[in-house]
Amino acid sequence: MNVFHIVGARPNFMKVAPVMNALKTRKQVIQALIHTGQHYDANMSDVFFEQLGIPAPDVNLAVGSGTHARQTAEIMTRLETALLDGEPDMVLVYGDVNSTVAAALVCAKLGVRVGHVEAGLRSFDRTMPEEINRLVTDQLADLLFTPSEDGDVNLQKEGIPAERIFRVGNVMIDSLVKLLPAARRQNLNGLPERYALVTLHRPANVDDGAILKRILQSLLEVSQDLRVIFPAHPRTRKRIADFGQHSGQVQIVDPLPYLQFLGMQSRATVVITDSGGIQEETTYLGVPCLTLRENTERPVTVSLGTNVLVGRDPDKLRSEVSRVLAGEAKKGTIPPLWDGHAGERIAALLTG
Ligand code: UD1
Repeated sequence: MNVFHIVGARPNFMKVAPVMNALKTRKQVIQALIHTGQHYDANMSDVFFEQLGIPAPDVNLAVGSGTHARQTAEIMTRLETALLDGEPDMVLVYGDVNSTVAAALVCAKLGVRVGHVEAGLRSFDRTMPEEINRLVTDQLADLLFTPSEDGDVNLQKEGIPAERIFRVGNVMIDSLVKLLPAARRQNLNGLPERYALVTLHRPANVDDGAILKRILQSLLEVSQDLRVIFPAHPRTRKRIADFGQHSGQVQIVDPLPYLQFLGMQSRATVVITDSGGIQEETTYLGVPCLTLRENTERPVTVSLGTNVLVGRDPDKLRSEVSRVLAGEAKKGTIPPLWDGHAGERIAALLTG
């Protein structure tokens, strides 16, 4: 069986690694990796390949950045050629980025079977570009691999036949389980005993100057009680510069490689974020997570994990940070099947 994996953006490198690894041991499988080039800076892409042990892509479509339509269209055009050349039996797509939906569309039109890894997640907020990507990808996929029960329920409500849905657990947690010991050995000299680790990149939080300013102001207030370290996505850094905003005591640094970031997460007093994957990682690690969003497509991180949605309410953020500092942070448990073996379960389903 000839399997193609399509990735393009940072969060999906952690998801493809365990699936490729698990399929490597299956004799009947030949794998190829296609990088769309949606993310291209070394610290957004290459460093993840090195640390996660992912082989160099067989094809790099080098699409780069653009508006959603332009980026999606460019991926589709270039990917169609690669798929016609490679003739895969099965294409695996990951997560909810533009590369994911573009690949699913091309495969559906070419009649190539698609498996969606991390299917069924829903924020029910269509102003979020990723929600559109999730809805379309899941409608087109032949096999839907979900991380948690809510995913199965959402898909069935949308009319996806139950026999196409497979609850396999969380592949991103596979990478975490494997690399946590190495992450804990990272030299994190100079880090204070207690700190808040911040990431922000959602358009809804960073593209509007007034909103971004309010968030930075809240972080400045947090920094009076707790050091705030903020590895900033290029998009966010650009916005902070464009809007001429001051970050004061908030320590803004470049995006971090996987191991360093995981090491920092595991030791953080609290994580403040708008990322999806980080809500999951903190839940696994048992680290308090305050999410600067009104909703989440990963509700188990709230119902079972350490995640608290604070929206964009500065008072709520401050009061939740105070709770953490007072030793009253929300306690959580690890969701079922987030056990480091999701990739193996996918490999077994594909080849069994
Ligand atoms: C994308 C995903 C988002 C995911 C995020 C993780 C979509 C719709 N969004 O958002 O779901 O959570 O990746 O990072 O697919 N840029 C660089 N260097 C890079 C990549 C991007 O400088 O290597 C800058 C460019 O200015 C670019 C901007 O970041 O325009 C946004 O990049 P893009 O891939 O369009 O979206 P993300 O915000 O990264």
